[in-house]
Amino acid sequence: MKTWYHESAEEAKCCLPSEGKMKQPESDLSATSLHRELRTKLIGKNVLYYPVVSSTLDIAKQAAKEGVTEGTIVIADHQTAGRGRFGRNWWAPSDSSILLSIVIRPRLEQLRHLNMAATLAVALSIEKVTGLKPVIKWPNDVLIGGKKVSGILIESEVEEEKVNFVVIGIGLNVNLDPSSNPEIAETATSLRAALGKEVSRLEMLCSLLGEFEELYDALREGEPIDQLWRCYLGTLGKQVAVRCGEQVWQGYAESVDDEGNLLLRCPDGSLLTIVAGEVTLQV
Ligand code: BTN
Repeated sequence: MKTWYHESAEEAKCCLPSEGKMKQPESDLSATSLHRELRTKLIGKNVLYYPVVSSTLDIAKQAAKEGVTEGTIVIADHQTAGRGRFGRNWWAPSDSSILLSIVIRPRLEQLRHLNMAATLAVALSIEKVTGLKPVIKWPNDVLIGGKKVSGILIESEVEEEKVNFVVIGIGLNVNLDPSSNPEIAETATSLRAALGKEVSRLEMLCSLLGEFEELYDALREGEPIDQLWRCYLGTLGKQVAVRCGEQVWQGYAESVDDEGNLLLRCPDGSLLTIVAGEVTLQV
């Protein structure tokens, strides 16, 4: 059966169901719903909504290459090939999550701070909407009660010191039931699982886009956001192992520098600056 959906508010106004096509109930995250609720001036002014896509990251990258305006968001109710860091899959049942990619065109020097802006935007919006106390796990995860509720994957195209575009992919488990997937049952959570009641995806998304816009504005004005980031960072002051590809470092997570790199105190007393990797706590 074919389905009929709007992908932008403009389209919504001029489309009528044609023969052989069935109108589906409108998604809570459709462009029309978002345009009604969103108060931002840049982020999410242009919405590409899809009921199903392979990955919002891929759609957003293609759209960015074709020149969509900065702040365009790609949002889907379901991904058939959602992906995470280190080549992993990103799993989410239909309609249960926020599966979002944001297209921006920052300057080169802002690039290193984008994971701070994105993780902070997720943490602040969760706190505001639900009252839960999220913690950022260096560099790109957001946890609640020690379990992952959100992951962020940032991809960019840079040519000769010029950023063509950056796509920030954000997966946020809103109402999914982690126990329904044995692969993540022990390590992941959702807002509903943590709060004990359903959370509005639309309210979460609008809050998240609003927070991201403020932080991105701050970066563009040259205002630092690393101090606020540190307040939410749960990784510091612990013995950790950091894996990056084949390499693993062990030590004490002492601090982060103002670009968000992890400063790891090694057993021999040296201080290592780590740019990327995956942290696990050591007991
Ligand atoms: C991670 O924790 O490994 C990052 C996960 C990023 C998942 C999001 S969901 C929306 C966007 N589309 C994707 O395919 N991935 C990102």
